[in-house]
Parts: sequence; structure tokens; C-alpha cells
Amino acid sequence: MKILVTGGTGYIGSHTVVELQQKGHELSIVDNLSNSYASVVDNIEKITGIRPGFELLDLRDEKATLQYLNRHKDFNGVIHFAALKAVGESVEKPLEYYQNNILSLINLLKGMKENQINNLVFSSSCTVYGQPDKLPVTENAPIKKAWSPYGHTKQISEEVIESVCNATSIKSILLRYFNPIGAHESAEIGELPIGNPNNLVPYITQTAVGVREQLNIFGKDYDTPDGTAIRDYIHVVDLAKAHIVALNRLLNGTNKSRFEVFNLGTGKGNSVLEVVNAFEKVSGLKLNYKFVGRRSGDISKIWADVSLANKELGWKTEKTIDDALLSAWNREKKYRGIDYNC
Ligand code: NAD
Ligand code: WQD
Repeated sequence: MKILVTGGTGYIGSHTVVELQQKGHELSIVDNLSNSYASVVDNIEKITGIRPGFELLDLRDEKATLQYLNRHKDFNGVIHFAALKAVGESVEKPLEYYQNNILSLINLLKGMKENQINNLVFSSSCTVYGQPDKLPVTENAPIKKAWSPYGHTKQISEEVIESVCNATSIKSILLRYFNPIGAHESAEIGELPIGNPNNLVPYITQTAVGVREQLNIFGKDYDTPDGTAIRDYIHVVDLAKAHIVALNRLLNGTNKSRFEVFNLGTGKGNSVLEVVNAFEKVSGLKLNYKFVGRRSGDISKIWADVSLANKELGWKTEKTIDDALLSAWNREKKYRGIDYNC
């Protein structure tokens, strides 16, 4: 099948492209490279032996997006990763986030509708739940007022897609990711945030490799067993594989409604301190860290109820948090030119 992946040179997109190619799909990537590098295409080719199509495209540009899709009417499906994703930055620059994430989606949906490209898998986020009242959180948990403009763009995007699915022949599966971490086992691709990392695991690996001096652990007074915040950390390769199952569900027509939503996590929570301890174990290093105050906007704890994805998609995670941390560490070392097997 011919599949379009928007944001395909990004972190989750690149891992998904690899998995899709390995299943025999023909891949085209569009990305504006605002948070990724064109060299990722070379790295994907190194892993799979197949070079995916790549076009530099800013999805905010309606004319260019429609022209692109008019030229590629034969796509069987689209996986839409392209978005800005830094929660803190979205508070500083709300208009950029609304403009990028919502306008891109609208342009894409317009082009899909015009060209009868009817299958869409969309990257949503556990951020739509805020701090849930009940854990583990299910897909039916109430969507509360968003904690950030970024989170709000995901809530709006979900509603836009639902309306379009109700009104057109487009059908969609929305995947709400929890905390993706780790890298491909080849260490050719991984998470490479531009600038200062916001997320925990890149901060850990960059501290361990010496790019950052010290990890700050935000908060040790949460209502959790060790006082640090709890998240559901999912290996990015497990996450990537879920996209293939979701896409096949749409392509085979085995979806139960035109608009479906699934949580993607491990179903298990780990505290920040547990992640740090696991990293020290797999790397054999002592990490330089200190406790500081809570980060504004952080929730105390969240982890997923993944029973719906397990049952309906027949998907479940296979990798452990140790696997994920070791792969992230190997990727960091390889990227910095250090022999990653040592
Ligand atoms: P990423 O930044 O690595 O990848 C996103 C890609 O989209 C980048 O390559 C960027 O250049 C591209 N892009 C952004 N705006 C674009 C535009 N207007 N036109 C074309 N390309 C554009 O992020 P990621 O971690 O791979 O996230 C992928 C998706 O998953 C995003 O929608 C994100 O919101 C969502 N998500 C991520 C996480 C996470 O923790 N990484 C968790 C939940 C959901
Ligand atoms: C994890 C834990 C931090 C960095 C974000 C988005 C969410 C989703 C995933 C996109 C928290 C702590 C972190 C550091 C720390 N993204 N931490 N020191 O905040 O759970 O989720 O990414 O949709 O929407 O909000 O992920 O990796 O930033 O933090 O102590 O230097 O690690 O406080 O408890 P988060 P994270």
C-alpha cells in the first residue's frame, strides 16, 4: 500500500516509517524539518535498505499541501505526526501552536477529502486527559480543560477529525500516546530534540554523555511512593508497531466505527526516580542529578488502561523500560560518535 507519513523525519514518525517499510508498504514522507533533519531519510535507508520518498512541505501552506495531494491521489492512507509538541513552548507561543497544529490538520483533511484518500491515523496524546480522577485512565475519561495550548490543539484536533469523519468518507483512528522513549535497536534513529531537551529521557542521556551537567528532578513531594512523579513510558518501537495495526484496521475495514480512539501505553507507571535508577543499571553509570522544585504544569501521576488497544487492535507492548533506556543510551552514544557497544 502507498502510505503518506507527515512528520516522518521526526522521532515517532521515523520509527513508524521503518516498521511500515519492513511490512512492505511504499512510504512517502512530508516534513518541513522544523524539528528534524533531512539526514533521517538516509538513516532510515541504512536500516531498511529502502529509501522512502521525501518532500519538504510545510502543511500550513494550503496551496502547496493541496498541490502535493493532488499529485498523489493514490495514497491508501495517511499517518499524521506533523505537529509542534513542546508543552512549555506552547504556553509562550500559543498562536504558533494553534496555527501550526490546527491549520496543518485542516489543510491535510481538505486534500484528503478532495482526493478521496479516506484513511487517517492521527497522533494524539495523553495530555488530553490532564490529571485524571481515576487511574489507570481509560479512553472514556472526561476531557477536561487543557493544561496548555499544546494540549488544547490535540483536543481541538480530535474534535475536528470526528466532525470530518461524520461528514465525509474519511475514517480515522486516533492514538493517544503516553510517554514514548527509546530508539531503534540499530541506533541509527532516535529522539533528537533541537536545543535544550524538555523530556526526561533525552535529558538523562545527554547528562550521561556529558552534554548537560546535571539532571534536575522536578519535585520529590508528590503523592507517590518515592515522592517523584509517575508516567507510563512506552518504547517507541512498540508505539510504531501499533500504527501499523491501526492503519491495517482502516485499510481492511475492520474498524468498528468511522472514528476510533485508543490509548497507547504499557499500562504501568514508573516514577522519575525509578527511571533514573533503571538508566544507571543498564548503562553502568552514576548519573549526576539533584532534586529541585516541581515543574509548573506537571501532573502528579498518569498511566494508561490499555485493555481496549489490547483487545481491539490485538496489540500489546513487548519491550521493557530497561530495553527502552538502553536503546536511548546506545543512540545517544552513536550520535556523539562513541562506540555504542562499549
Ligand atoms: P517530532 O517533533 O520529533 O516530529 C514531528 C515532525 O513534524 C518534525 O519532524 C517536524 O519537523 C514536523 N512538522 C511540524 N510542523 C510541521 C508542519 N507544519 N509541516 C510539516 N512538518 C511539520 O515529534 P514526535 O515526538 O515524533 O511527535 C509526533 C507526534 O506525536 C506529534 O503530533 C506529537 O504531538 C505527538 N505526540 C508526541 C509525544 C512525545 O512525547 N513525543 C507524546 C504524545 C503525542
Ligand atoms: C516526565 C517526568 C517531569 C525532565 C510530555 C507532555 C505530554 C507528552 C509527553 C506530547 C515528569 C520529569 C522531566 C527533567 C524531570 N507529549 N522530568 N527532569 O511532561 O510527562 O509529558 O511529553 O504529547 O503531553 O506533557 O514528559 O518527559 O517532560 O517528563 O524530573 O529534566 O520527568 O517532571 O514528571 P511529560 P517529560
